[in-house]
Amino acid sequence: MASPPASTSPAPPGPTGPPARPARLVVLVSGSGTNLQALLDAIAADPEGFGARVVAVGADRDGIVGLERAERAGLPTFVRRVKDYGTRDAWDHALAEATAAYEPDLVVSAGFMKIVGKEFLARFGGRFINTHPALLPSFPGAHGVRDALAYGAKVTGCTVHFVDDGVDTGPIIAQGVVEVVEEDTAEGEAALHERIKEVERRLLVDVVRRLARSGYRIEGRKVILP
Ligand code: GAR
Repeated sequence: MASPPASTSPAPPGPTGPPARPARLVVLVSGSGTNLQALLDAIAADPEGFGARVVAVGADRDGIVGLERAERAGLPTFVRRVKDYGTRDAWDHALAEATAAYEPDLVVSAGFMKIVGKEFLARFGGRFINTHPALLPSFPGAHGVRDALAYGAKVTGCTVHFVDDGVDTGPIIAQGVVEVVEEDTAEGEAALHERIKEVERRLLVDVVRRLARSGYRIEGRKVILP
């Protein structure tokens, strides 16, 4: 698995203070967008101090609550659907172009359920993060909650990581732990996923704030936050 390029945040802090301008975030969503909402709320609560602002929200499908949340916040949105392009590479190029148009310092995959391609990674690698509802490297992929439950794991949780060219394999930035309780077996993945998302939203907000405000380095698999 290729390591992402060593990277620092594009707006690194000066020796005596925070970055000169807030980091620009493009957030990618596919669903309900509660992680996006958590970011929007945290930024709105502390617009000066947070160190970042969302400049656009992208999606791979129309008609999702995540896009409604962006529109309610007055943010520009874009949708690039795989089925509208002849090849997966053409879709990847279109997604990369649409994202690049907003000149992001960080791209946040917050429930974005598509694997991006080579071009997107080449353009945004080292500044593209994803949140995943399991404790990686266990249970990667589209069904992290269901797979942990089916396996009989007693703890699971969420992971915020940089994206590389594997499926949920990039360097880990932070993780949160959630206990699997007896009732989860009977009630299925929805209840467990909701408890994970409570932890996940806080974790994502905290990670984005730290990356934006303080910068970071990626050394092999290690993410170094000052
Ligand atoms: C989150 O739990 C996120 O980790 C998961 O989708 C949910 C999106 O929730 N992503 C994946 O499973 C990616 N493999 P949200 O739309 O309410 O933010």
